[in-house]
Amino acid sequence: MLVSATEMLKKAVSGHYAVGQFNINNLEWTKAVLLTAQENNSPVILGVSEGAGKYMTGFDTVAAMVKAMINSLGITVPVALHLDHGTYEGCYKCIKAGFSSIMFDGSHFPIEENIEKTTELVHAAHNMGLSIEAEVGSIGGEEDGVIGAGEIADPNECKMIADLGVDFLAAGIGNIHGKYPENWQGLDFDALAKTKALIGDLPLVLHGGTGIPEDMIKKAISLGVAKINVNTECQLYFQQATRDYILAGKDLVGKGFDPRKLLAPGYEGIKTIVKEKMELFGSVNKA
Ligand code: 13P
Repeated sequence: MLVSATEMLKKAVSGHYAVGQFNINNLEWTKAVLLTAQENNSPVILGVSEGAGKYMTGFDTVAAMVKAMINSLGITVPVALHLDHGTYEGCYKCIKAGFSSIMFDGSHFPIEENIEKTTELVHAAHNMGLSIEAEVGSIGGEEDGVIGAGEIADPNECKMIADLGVDFLAAGIGNIHGKYPENWQGLDFDALAKTKALIGDLPLVLHGGTGIPEDMIKKAISLGVAKINVNTECQLYFQQATRDYILAGKDLVGKGFDPRKLLAPGYEGIKTIVKEKMELFGSVNKA
């Protein structure tokens, strides 16, 4: 069932768990995430970066594939199709393409411009029944060409953006896209608690979910994080399983070169990590 992310995240805040956003890249990724959500009776958010949208030939293709797959696989758990780190133009494209949720990443603009553009997009999204995420304080590292400095979001600026009517908010607290460096300082829970105190029950989003230790994930959820984004970890599981298959020479045996066989271990790898994350985030049986 394709829905906006508003209700599932409100439920997550009151139930003290988080819903995973898993970024998709192709048919295998989408099928793996949807079926794992259904098997675990968990709500789920499919994240699509602008780069991944382009790779899949455009947002129209992505929306059509996801809707058709929900239908043909008989997926009944709540699924949101969400633009990840959208530009102003990308947000409008996804509203038109039939996404159920968008993120406007205005974190690199001066706060006045972030407020102005977010305000406009909140109206555009809500008019069409979509949910909208905004961002304050950039997420560190690089994802599909989006590069962030990794600032800690100013809680007062978070409050300003929260008051614009966004449905959930990404606030940078030292989180980074991709693998965390050895000397990473960890999440800034003081900043998270200050923001939470100012914005109340508005769901908070933790980007850069790959590699954050379990105790930090649990603490972040206890402080109001209700959506956690995971991308790199699915890619790493897919890579490792594909690598093992080829290094074991399985592609050379019989019809092992058939793409459906070649991609099967990677597909299972994605299912394994998505299930683990759903268990850790507490979203199993919360559909
Ligand atoms: P990771 O790639 O670090 O898991 O981050 C995903 C993310 O935040 C998507 O927006």
